[in-house]
Amino acid sequence: MKLLVVGGGGREHAIIRSLKKNPAVTDIYALPGNGGIASDAVCVPIPATDIENIAAFAVENQVDYAVVAPDDPLVLGCVDALEAKGIPCFGPRANAAIIEGSKVFAKNLMKKYRIPTAAYEVFDNMDAALRYLDAAPIPTVIKADGLALGKGVIIAQTREEAKDAVKSMMADKIFGASGDHIVIEEFLTGPEVSVLAFTDGKVVKPMVSSMDHKRAGDNDTGLNTGGMGTVAPNPYYTEEVAKQCMEEIFLPTIAAMNAEGRTFRGCLYFGLMLTPQGPKVIEYNCRFGDPETQVVLPLLESDLLTIMRACTNGTLADTEVKFSSKHACCVILASQGYPTAYKKGYEITMTPEAREATFVAGAKLEDGKLLTSGGRVTGTTAVADSLEAAIREAYRLSDGVKFENAYRRSDIGRRALQAGK
Ligand code: AMP
Ligand code: GLY
Repeated sequence: MKLLVVGGGGREHAIIRSLKKNPAVTDIYALPGNGGIASDAVCVPIPATDIENIAAFAVENQVDYAVVAPDDPLVLGCVDALEAKGIPCFGPRANAAIIEGSKVFAKNLMKKYRIPTAAYEVFDNMDAALRYLDAAPIPTVIKADGLALGKGVIIAQTREEAKDAVKSMMADKIFGASGDHIVIEEFLTGPEVSVLAFTDGKVVKPMVSSMDHKRAGDNDTGLNTGGMGTVAPNPYYTEEVAKQCMEEIFLPTIAAMNAEGRTFRGCLYFGLMLTPQGPKVIEYNCRFGDPETQVVLPLLESDLLTIMRACTNGTLADTEVKFSSKHACCVILASQGYPTAYKKGYEITMTPEAREATFVAGAKLEDGKLLTSGGRVTGTTAVADSLEAAIREAYRLSDGVKFENAYRRSDIGRRALQAGK
């Protein structure tokens, strides 16, 4: 079987390594992939957003099944384009990917179907937004409507900061057209949990829960990043909370999308906050999380390709989705200076055992050498019987990945270890 995976980060590397376990898979093409993915798949330099050429490549190379992993091609209709050429795909069509592509859509959906989320107002006029802020509760959260590379959220601690955020989005357009509409919402508190879930639009089968570490610095200080490390399962996500989320959030969301004529098939990511009033949705993503995937898939005991095809075919109810009861931890190595300015082009070396445990995110091959080419460079994952052992082993293995100017947080998993203590 010939597979095509759209994307080129650590998440895609983890997906490809899991897909490869199926003995029916003969070829995997990664578009565009990266220098590290090149050891596990054939990388083809077609950008993930070049939908026309992705579809043409799939037809020419007689691809049997495609997985579209990143948000932008999904929102732009990559699945629709591949399906139009007769290529079955894992991932939502554009009309369902809007659940991530528009925060206004997502908030209005939750309000209409009574899915718990932060109270909010939508604005398309800056003066109205500024007037609203005169009396809004502080802190408050300002969100640009569209995709903004995960940076479109500003938590304002003062009224001034909130007004500056609105002006920067709506007048200065720091996130481009994403700032034409904004959401101003209630500031929530509580532990955050990421739950990725498989769905065929009929049933929903959640994966093991995880915890991301979004800030650049130790003890959750510094700027927001794409994620500096993850652990799974998330200790705050107890069986009782899981049951409540299934009844109040997961099933109602699938039903709401169906009722809107926007059936969601693929991986739906629920970004949850466990507030004193119960679990609430912070955000939906229409895809696997990065670096959540790097701890979730190593714990998957069932066959990933079989599950993905069941999501496409509508047979997920009859398909086993089983996770190990072990623990996983992923430690990201980033380029010093990420998420703002950083240098690229440093050679990466890995010990053999580190290589096996490492998913490559930002690297390119040049004359046979692996060179850094992005902010997040690698993610090293360990699986162990306890969370403590998984953290220790992930750091030990990550010591075997070396490049100049490498930076990592030293406290991935610490908060999870302290949960309930
Ligand atoms: P997002 O890009 O939607 O994942 O938001 C980035 C981060 O901002 C989240 O992971 C939360 O930590 C935080 N956040 C977003 N919305 C809220 C909210 N309503 N209250 C508190 N924190 C929030
Ligand atoms: N790790 C957060 C995300 O994938 O959006």
